[in-house]
Amino acid sequence: MLAGLSLVLDTPRIAILGRNGSGKSTLARAMAGLIDGAGGRVAIDGADILKDRKAALSAVGILFQNPEHQIIFPSALEEVRFGLLQMGHAKPEATRLAEAALARFGRADWAGRSTATLSQGQKHLLCVISILAMAPRVLILDEPFSGLDIPTERALRRVLESYPGTLVQITHDPQVVAGYDRVLWIEAGRLHADGPPAEVLPGYLAEMEAEGADAFADL
Ligand SMILES: Nc1ncnc2c1ncn2[C@@H]1O[C@H](COP(=O)(O)OP(=O)(O)OP(=O)(O)O)[C@@H](O)[C@H]1O
Ligand SMILES: [Mg+2]
Repeated sequence: MLAGLSLVLDTPRIAILGRNGSGKSTLARAMAGLIDGAGGRVAIDGADILKDRKAALSAVGILFQNPEHQIIFPSALEEVRFGLLQMGHAKPEATRLAEAALARFGRADWAGRSTATLSQGQKHLLCVISILAMAPRVLILDEPFSGLDIPTERALRRVLESYPGTLVQITHDPQVVAGYDRVLWIEAGRLHADGPPAEVLPGYLAEMEAEGADAFADL
């Protein structure tokens, strides 16, 4: 699904662009060390995260595009706490951190809430809260704003702006991309362009406009 890709992510804000099915989520999973067997290698600060899963937990985190692929616990507090426990925090500390993470987004009341009863957007936010609570050095976000209401989106934008680690964000929003250091344009599982937004974005947008006019000419 991905071919001949070799990337060194050495800037703090990286965006991944591309059409539906181009391979963005696949690349995100590969970066997070979740796809093995393709002969690839993923290292963060020198640690091989395919081999050292414990090191991987604080090194890299991924927000999946689909929250149904992420949520595994019956209650919201357990869901947020799980990653913190995995990282080695003792239960009382993990609980405290999980409660603080929920409170940061004004969702302290969710602690005992059944994850199955959350709406789609709420599930998405719960996944965002869970991954941010772990504060990985590299945070990969697969369309983090999808389905969020305006106040929640603003809150998340503020949190991400001051995020101390590296952000790799998959997005279709040219505004987000414009403020980033680097843009990776993926097409059919290959890296089509890689550079600062001023270099990559105009060509990308022109190509998308042209393909849109072409593909939907009959509408
Ligand atoms: N588990 C899988 N098994 C087989 N093929 C897959 C699998 N997951 C994705 N693919 C295929 O790999 C290609 C890239 O998929 P991917 O999910 O990475 O695209 P994407 O760029 O994230 O798309 P979108 O913008 O719709 O999220 C697609 O052709 C898809 O059908
Ligand atoms: Mg995707």
